[in-house]
Amino acid sequence: MTDFLIPDPHTYHHGLSSHFESESIPHSLPTARNSPQKPPYGLYAEKLSGSAFTAPRHLNKQTWLYRILPSASHIPFTICESPNALEAECRQIPNQLRWDPFDVDDSATFISGLRLLGSAGDIPTKNGLGIYVYTCGRSMPDTEAFYSADGDMLIVPQAGTLDVRTELGRLLVRPMEILVVPRGIRYNVALHEPRESEGARGYILETWTTGHFELPELGPIGSNGLANARDFQIPTAAYIDSTATHTIMAKFNGKLFRASQNHSPFDVVAWHGNYYPFKYDLGRFNTIGSISYDHPDPSIFTVLTVQSAVPGTAVADFVIFPPRWLVGEDTFRPPWFHRNCMSEFMGLIDGDYDAKTSGGFVPGGASLHNVMAGHGPDAGTAERASECELKPQKVGAGSMAFMFESSFMIGVSEWALAGCRKVQEEYNVESWTGVKRRFKAPGAGT
Ligand SMILES: [Fe+2]
Repeated sequence: MTDFLIPDPHTYHHGLSSHFESESIPHSLPTARNSPQKPPYGLYAEKLSGSAFTAPRHLNKQTWLYRILPSASHIPFTICESPNALEAECRQIPNQLRWDPFDVDDSATFISGLRLLGSAGDIPTKNGLGIYVYTCGRSMPDTEAFYSADGDMLIVPQAGTLDVRTELGRLLVRPMEILVVPRGIRYNVALHEPRESEGARGYILETWTTGHFELPELGPIGSNGLANARDFQIPTAAYIDSTATHTIMAKFNGKLFRASQNHSPFDVVAWHGNYYPFKYDLGRFNTIGSISYDHPDPSIFTVLTVQSAVPGTAVADFVIFPPRWLVGEDTFRPPWFHRNCMSEFMGLIDGDYDAKTSGGFVPGGASLHNVMAGHGPDAGTAERASECELKPQKVGAGSMAFMFESSFMIGVSEWALAGCRKVQEEYNVESWTGVKRRFKAPGAGT
């Protein structure tokens, strides 16, 4: 579970979707107005909009920043000469895919080590998503900040603890925790001591649509369960006053741009609003399942969702498979064999995933079961699950697998198919061609 041997030195607000006020200097927020003629301490007011001005009140996202200089104060952006192929063409293919763990690039930072695995849709029209892997062995320079204008990023660390400084404050993000950074918010990712020499690796889901990550509806589950709002942690204001030259790296329509400025992008002294980065400890998830027979759809494990305009249909769900008890009677307990109109990208943070106990799906690797690609437990797991005695059973101890499930058909980048050299060419054959025939027609004999 979360490595609490690494203490978190930062302070947080608690409660997803709440409206917060945060001051790093007492009385640095103006009283009873957002943009006074003279904000306290000579700060500038700057509004950060995460939704259209006219979005319905319950969907409206905005934060007012009170900063030393406006973020408009910079030299114009120019395109980077060596972008990381983040806008690469992606190909949709019907085969199931699985990858060995991606190599950690010790020379890279969080930004230079970012690689596109797959994508669907289109960034400029705000319709689609990208899936990335990051690996790094170095911290970003203190004077560098990154933001994505393309979408909200959900970051899933698999190895390495990240110390993330954002415009709105700082967050420590350990494996088994996740971080969401909404579109536009600037941040710097450092490797946290004392284990920074081990490097870091993780997965990123970037949603390009106008909506944001939110808690799923609970329906008949009631008013608590799954991920609870109070367990989400939001940073508190913390600023840097610097006149050193800083670099802003912008991901804009899949390309990386660079600009410089003579002030820190982390000069926000105070803020108030409901548009902010947040983290969540996956160990706090309240897992719900069957106590009679069968098991529910994996949507019962949804932590966060970005909804499309079609009711109940996600642009992307972030789903986890935590340690849990299986007690179903007369039940095939692993995830059933399955074809889905949605696409399913999976990663493994630690341990063994209970549907793939015959090996091959290991921490730091990944799999993609695209739209209508048949999948399910591997042959060995299926055989054992069909024959075992059905006693109450704890599965997934010490393990955490996750899924990005999307209504889009995910294309795969050339880097993912060939460049990374991690594709398991025999995944399909090894997993499912060994599933035994057991059909016996009536009267066919033994
Ligand atoms: Fe599935």
